[in-house]
Amino acid sequence: MSERVMSALEDKRVQLVVGGVGITGGIYVAVKLSWFRKNPFKSFGGKTGAMAKDLVDRGIQSYNEFFDQEDGKGVGSRILSTPDFVNKFYSLITDFYEYGWGESFHFAAREKGESFEDSIIRQEVAIAENIGLKEGMNVIDLGCGVGGPMRNIVKATGGKVTGITINEYQVGRCTTLNKAAGVEHLTEIVQGNFMDLSKVFKGRKFDGAYAIEAACHASNTTALYKEVFQVLKPGALFASYEWLRTDKYDPNNKVHVDVVDGIAEGNALPEVRTIEDCVKAAKAAGFEVQFTFDRATLGGVPWQQAMKSARRAAYLTHILTGVLEFIGFAPKGTQAVHTMLLKAAVNLEKGGDLEIFSPMYLIVMKKPMGAAAVEA
Ligand SMILES: C[S@@+](CC[C@H](N)C(=O)[O-])C[C@H]1O[C@@H](n2cnc3c(N)ncnc32)[C@H](O)[C@@H]1O
Ligand SMILES: *[C@@H]1O[C@H](CO)[C@@H](O)[C@H](O)[C@H]1NC(C)=O
Repeated sequence: MSERVMSALEDKRVQLVVGGVGITGGIYVAVKLSWFRKNPFKSFGGKTGAMAKDLVDRGIQSYNEFFDQEDGKGVGSRILSTPDFVNKFYSLITDFYEYGWGESFHFAAREKGESFEDSIIRQEVAIAENIGLKEGMNVIDLGCGVGGPMRNIVKATGGKVTGITINEYQVGRCTTLNKAAGVEHLTEIVQGNFMDLSKVFKGRKFDGAYAIEAACHASNTTALYKEVFQVLKPGALFASYEWLRTDKYDPNNKVHVDVVDGIAEGNALPEVRTIEDCVKAAKAAGFEVQFTFDRATLGGVPWQQAMKSARRAAYLTHILTGVLEFIGFAPKGTQAVHTMLLKAAVNLEKGGDLEIFSPMYLIVMKKPMGAAAVEA
């Protein structure tokens, strides 16, 4: 469907014809669906968007070139997730995420009858509880996005959260949204690379750390966990929702391989790891692994359902982006960015349906009490 729409939209007459439908449909969806909380037009003006107009086009081109180099060969062991590359990715897609999904850029295990928003908050509070966050504690949020999770977590726990993200545009959005939510006193946001945590925080030690669907971007899990270890106090806990292949993944099954490659490509991931990889990395970094649990196995509504429900809106958005780009309102390349996100979504859905992939494989680890002596 999206392919057909894409090629049809290259014909200018078709663009004009779908124009009316696209704009009306887009506005309808934006107004109708409560989860479109952000004014869609704000993002496309070029002034407030994450990238200047001409940069969107160049950004998506170089992003796609990166993957085209080895298309079809399998992402395998390629290490693509240089911070610069991930930063580019998030500059391209932050507005789309916020517009289409909300302020929290992650999935959730949802109960039947539970709203999407409630399930998102429950997912976030659960990870905070896993590291024992309470009033008086200060923990790190690794790869904090625009801070949806940190705001919900400080409200629920009274603890303090310091977020770090590589992407400067997200820092700005997060600051604005923290102020609007009245949680400035409990939140802090830093622009930086989480692969250099110890340098960024220069000797500062935290009472815990969590990462929500962000550690998947690290080019080396062991190196990341080591950095986290260094900025934690002894006895502190670190929990992460990892994007992982499950035991059902079969490397000899072409469908499985293609789906997982598609997930990596559409989401700027270096590779998709297994829980064994993460447990090994945690131990190598000096942590004691407390437990692991695939949260995707919880709940009555599969996590990928939220994307399926959003599909009609996504296709309308797709048409809308084409029209806005055509009339010069949206930066050139906007629709190409959306095409990439649709591709990511399709593969994520398949990965979820086949149960070969989980975006919420929880791993909880502890810095041993005796670690201070070892470090000193
Ligand atoms: C899928 S988003 C999740 C955001 C947030 N945890 C949430 O749930 O809303 C991944 C986040 O990781 C951040 N990130 C990726 N690589 C990073 C790096 N090397 N250093 C710091 N942040 C990084 C991205 O900027 C983005 O904010
Ligand atoms: C990942 O990082 C660890 C710890 O810094 C290092 O020992 C290992 O060689 C790295 N692996 C790769 C593939 O670079």
